[in-house]
This record gives sequence, structure tokens and C-alpha cells, in this order.
Amino acid sequence: MTVARLMLTDFRSYASATIAAGPGFVVLTGENGAGKTNILEAVSMLGPGRGLRGAALAEMAREGGAGGFAVAAELAGGASEGVRLGTGTTPQAPERRQVRINGAAASAAALGEWLSLLWLTPAMDRLFTEGAEGRRRFLDRLVLAIEPGHAHHVSRYDAAMRARNKLLAAEGPPDIAWLDALEIQLGQHGQAIAEARARTVTALARRIAAEPQGPFARAALMIEGWLPGARPLVEELRQGRARDTAAGRTLSGPHRQDLAVSHAAKQQPAARASTGEQKALLLGLVLAHADLVAERRGQRPILLMDEVAAHLDPVRRAALFDRLGRSGGQIWLTGTERALFDGIGEASWLAVGGGVVEPR
Ligand SMILES: Nc1ncnc2c1ncn2[C@@H]1O[C@H](COP(=O)(O)OP(=O)(O)OP(=O)(O)O)[C@@H](O)[C@H]1O
Ligand SMILES: [Mg+2]
Repeated sequence: MTVARLMLTDFRSYASATIAAGPGFVVLTGENGAGKTNILEAVSMLGPGRGLRGAALAEMAREGGAGGFAVAAELAGGASEGVRLGTGTTPQAPERRQVRINGAAASAAALGEWLSLLWLTPAMDRLFTEGAEGRRRFLDRLVLAIEPGHAHHVSRYDAAMRARNKLLAAEGPPDIAWLDALEIQLGQHGQAIAEARARTVTALARRIAAEPQGPFARAALMIEGWLPGARPLVEELRQGRARDTAAGRTLSGPHRQDLAVSHAAKQQPAARASTGEQKALLLGLVLAHADLVAERRGQRPILLMDEVAAHLDPVRRAALFDRLGRSGGQIWLTGTERALFDGIGEASWLAVGGGVVEPR
């Protein structure tokens, strides 16, 4: 599973660009602000969700452009050979995402059937110290890479919860039939979300525990917060109506979960680990997850690693490239200097700058 060709139109700093990439390492180098992360973000839009910046669609359309954007890709390798994926917006509907698979309109969730993507960005350095929402989204991406159907449950669950909160907040007695229907949906999708998260965390924890000790610290994982009890979620919601009305939001369900990560050897919460240790934990987690995805889906996920090399010491950097190279799959890397990638071996080398991407 690789992105062999990537075509951008009015995406961020690019009026129009075409990028050819081989399997294996794809290394993007260029100065600060050159447009490297923009390219990784474009690739990340080939999956469901809001991409690696979590940005609004309107922000992605190039300033000074017509108001819409397009990201298109041709895939290569295995069952996805020759598959064409496309996504974007139009100037008429800059906040409505359109998706095409082999030319036919499709849902964003369906993209996950073709590509599984994992990313690591500098913004994720704060994953362990900031709020639970970021960790939930991270966890959902881990699940999604294994179970593409997860995206559907998450989007239906979110929509039903917004509707329920609105209904409970409205003046006067709520429409009970509608409330019942929303809670049934929340119960079904919520249960599915919680079960899928638990499956992924269990499998990932097992995988990490079985790995030999390497240069990246081992993480211990646990889901905290709301956990499915003996009572079905739909019952919890029905009985929690008065409580939720008073709180102004829904208090039961997987949107109240958190992914607790700790440094296994030190038995210390990740939030308390050093900056470097947190980075290594996250890296170890993502690498183990890539192995898990490869095992489950029979294809390695595409990895988008924004500026991972710059912050590692030379020993860890060499260990990272060695491990990535040995496990195979397509890995997109960015950095300001080519020297950061010395010793990487064969790669698609791309120079980024001035709205242009060229082989170097
Ligand atoms: N919608 C947009 N339209 C036009 N330009 C944009 C838009 N969004 C972002 N940019 C510009 O894209 C440029 C490149 O951003 P990008 O984050 O890809 O750089 P980078 O190469 O990753 O830099 P760094 O090494 O600092 O991380 C920025 O200068 C930014 O102003
Ligand atoms: Mg960048």
C-alpha cells in the first residue's frame, strides 16, 4: 500500500503540484515554511477525519485561490494497485468535503478501506500533557487503522450526541420518541466504539510487551474514564436524562474515555516523563502499532513522520531508520536538512520550496 502519485490543486501553499513517490522512504527536505508539512497533511486527507493538523477544510484551500481545493492520489501495491482516491472542496461549499474513489462519489469513511495511515507530528509532543480529547482522537486513529468501520460509528455517535444535547437543552419537555431514538443510536454506536477501542488497546499492549527491549521506551496502556458496565449504555442514558439536562451535556459514553499511557519500566505516567522520554514512548507506540496493523491487514500502513529525526539523538535516529527500513512499507519523512537522513539508504528524495516539489 503506497501513494505512488500525489496531485495537489490549491491545497495550502500549492497552486498545483504533482509528486511521484516510490515505496519505502519518501524524504521531503526544505527550509522552514517551505511546505513540507502541507504535503504530509495532504496525504493524511486521504483517510477519514480532519487530517494531521485537525484543521477546518476552509483553511486548507489556498489563500488567493478560487476557494476550494483538491488532493488526488494514485495508489500502488497489492490490492490497491491503480486505485485512485480524491478528496477536496468546491468554492461553492468550502466546508463540505467531497470524496471520490476511482471516480465515483464515496464517503470519507470509505477511504479507510483503501489506505491506513498513521502519523507523528511535533504537535503530538503534547499528547500526554494536554486534555483527554487529543488522546481519544489518537486512540481512534489507532483503531481506525485496524478496523476501518470504526469511522462510521464515531461519526454517527458524535452526530447523535450533539442532537441529544441540543434536545435536552431546549425549552419545554423534549420529544420523547426522538430522544428514545437518539439514545438507541448512541447505545449501539457507543458500545461498538468502546469495544473496538478495548480490542485495539489489548492487542497493542500485548504486542508491545512481546517486543524485545529497544531504544524506545515501552509504553503500558489502559483505557480510563467511562467504561461499559453491566447495564447497556442505552439504559444508562435513559436513566441519566435529568442528570445530563442539569449538566448541559451527556455524561455517559465513550466520549468520556481517556487513553492512559505510562512508562512501563518506570511505572510512571507518561505525562511525568521527560520530553525526550515522552517522544520515545510515542514513537515506540506508533512503531508497534504499525506492526500490528501490518499483521491484521496484511499490508503495512503508510507512516507520516513530521520532523521526527531532528529531535532524536544520533543513536536513536539510526535505530529508528534501521527499524523503519527493515519493516518496509511507505514512510514519509520531513526535515530541514538532508544530513539528518544520512544512512537511510534508498529513498525518494524530494526538495520542497517555493510551492514546488522536485526530485533531488
Ligand atoms: N491556506 C493556505 N494558503 C496559502 N498558504 C498557506 C495556507 N496554509 C498554510 N500556508 C502556508 O504554507 C507554508 C508552509 O507551511 P508548512 O507547515 O508546510 O511548512 P514546513 O515546510 O513544514 O515548515 P517547518 O520546517 O517550519 O515545519 C506556510 O508559510 C504557511 O503560511
Ligand atoms: Mg513542518
